[in-house]
Amino acid sequence: MPTVLITGASRGLGLEFARQYAADGWRVVACARKPEESTALNELAGASGGLVTVHVLDVAEPAEIDTLATELDGMAVDLLLNNAGTMGRESFAEKGLATQMFGQSDYEDWLRTMRVNVLGPMRMAEAFVENVAASRQKKIVTLTSVVGSIGQSKFGGLYAYRSSKAAANAVMKAMSVDLRPRGIIALPMHPGWVRTEIGGPRGELDVTTSVTGVRRVIAELTPADTGRFLQWDGRELPW
Ligand SMILES: NC(=O)c1ccc[n+]([C@@H]2O[C@H](COP(=O)([O-])OP(=O)(O)OC[C@H]3O[C@@H](n4cnc5c(N)ncnc54)[C@H](OP(=O)(O)O)[C@@H]3O)[C@@H](O)[C@H]2O)c1
Repeated sequence: MPTVLITGASRGLGLEFARQYAADGWRVVACARKPEESTALNELAGASGGLVTVHVLDVAEPAEIDTLATELDGMAVDLLLNNAGTMGRESFAEKGLATQMFGQSDYEDWLRTMRVNVLGPMRMAEAFVENVAASRQKKIVTLTSVVGSIGQSKFGGLYAYRSSKAAANAVMKAMSVDLRPRGIIALPMHPGWVRTEIGGPRGELDVTTSVTGVRRVIAELTPADTGRFLQWDGRELPW
């Protein structure tokens, strides 16, 4: 039975990943900052017959990552799915392209965004690389965003979010090179514009469609795919 470790499983895409992997018979290590506040995640775990376990994890808190790494020591993790992410204080759902506009930067919030979206996936990869290396599938996937693509950048604003996702892309590219000799496939993926709290109600995809697509792409990854920047339907994105 393969195992997936998912960050940010309390809601949105992370919760749907937990649902779909569990339905597919995977063991799911579902992490959330405040699991007690996610009724849906607790119900999923409760009905899973032990397949889904819930763990406290704020990816911006190194001590919590260390605690989880100790707890999971020796467990093979086929897929480390860095899903947790934040847009920062401002809501894209409410403000759309007027979010994080030039001249209005909140630098503390920007730093917090970087800690979650960039340092978080890096710390997770460094903490759990042995678990992934010990597995059969050996995959590390970080959900970044097309907004982090410099080549496809068409509009301004969103400085904190876009720079964090561009940085996460760079992190995943470098990681793919470093971990290739160990047979680990590492890459960033864009889940599409999805109707969640981050994506807002005008998103193009529902969570089921996005997660189904991302899971299909992940399932078909081979070592030749390491370091690519792919989106939910398998198409390649420019950096
Ligand atoms: N939706 C889109 O259109 C879209 C597009 C491109 C990329 N993405 C990326 O997809 C991922 C999932 O986003 P979503 O759309 O599902 O958004 P969402 O519904 O807002 O969910 C965000 C998740 O991240 C968790 N999270 C935030 N900060 C965290 C931290 N410090 N430690 C651990 N967990 C944390 C949240 O937990 P709490 O419940 O505790 O806040 C929540 O579970 C993100 O990385 C996002 O950037 C989304």
